[in-house]
Amino acid sequence: LLRRSVRIDAVFTAADAYDRFMGRYSEHLSPQLADLAHVARGMRVLDVGCGPGALTAELVRRAGAASVAAVDPSEPFVTAVRTRNPGVDARVATAESLPFADDAFDAAVAQLVVHFMRDPVAGIREMARVTRTGGVVAACVWDGLGRGPTTEFWRAAREIDPNVPNEGERAGVREGHLVTLFKEAGLRDVEQSEVWSRLAQPSFESWWGPFELGVGPVGVFVARLSDAQRVDLRERCRALLPSGPFVHEVRAWAARGVV
Ligand SMILES: C[S@@+](CC[C@H](N)C(=O)[O-])C[C@H]1O[C@@H](n2cnc3c(N)ncnc32)[C@H](O)[C@@H]1O
Repeated sequence: LLRRSVRIDAVFTAADAYDRFMGRYSEHLSPQLADLAHVARGMRVLDVGCGPGALTAELVRRAGAASVAAVDPSEPFVTAVRTRNPGVDARVATAESLPFADDAFDAAVAQLVVHFMRDPVAGIREMARVTRTGGVVAACVWDGLGRGPTTEFWRAAREIDPNVPNEGERAGVREGHLVTLFKEAGLRDVEQSEVWSRLAQPSFESWWGPFELGVGPVGVFVARLSDAQRVDLRERCRALLPSGPFVHEVRAWAARGVV
């Protein structure tokens, strides 16, 4: 029983930390991505790379839990999605190897995931395989070069460590790249668009705090710093952002294609 309760704590720590960090931005994208895929009642929909479920919840609102499936390689996230959305078919899996039959869905969507895929074209091709002919595949990835939620963070990080990985090299973060990947994966009528998230930040501290929660690549980067380096990075970020309350307006590139 003790081991089980420790495991459940770990699940909610991971999901809650994500919610307090990227989830605050990604929940604004969910209705826009669902619109791109025309998700509505009566459709069977797959959420690829669901995380703790920012997009899954929107799909459930539109299509009903029994029509929604979700996958993520992270077991704690999949457990959180199951608990939060009873009836959703949530499974541990990657985009590159989806545990579903051909034509199982009317639409497959991936919000902020393509840049994490080991093989993005294979992942998008798998999304197309499980979607019926005439169905829609849609995805979005933060604008990693100009207006993403972590742009200022990586700019400051590069000032203290020039070897910081270049965000611009990740799949889909440059304008037009998602479209290229969708076409390579065999989708037709591929179109690019933009989706936006506007998050009110009452202070610099409210912006910075979640970077220390250990979530995603930024969390890993911060966790490896000494205390002095972390303070240095924080102050460099402060210099790049407004001093009072501000609205952090960030963009993700999106693409949709037809199977
Ligand atoms: C930034 S989160 C996005 C979560 C959620 N879609 C949202 O919008 O909040 C990226 C997610 O992609 C998942 N992921 C990483 N590699 C993946 C892969 N190869 N296939 C599917 N999901 C992957 C991660 O575990 C993580 O949950």
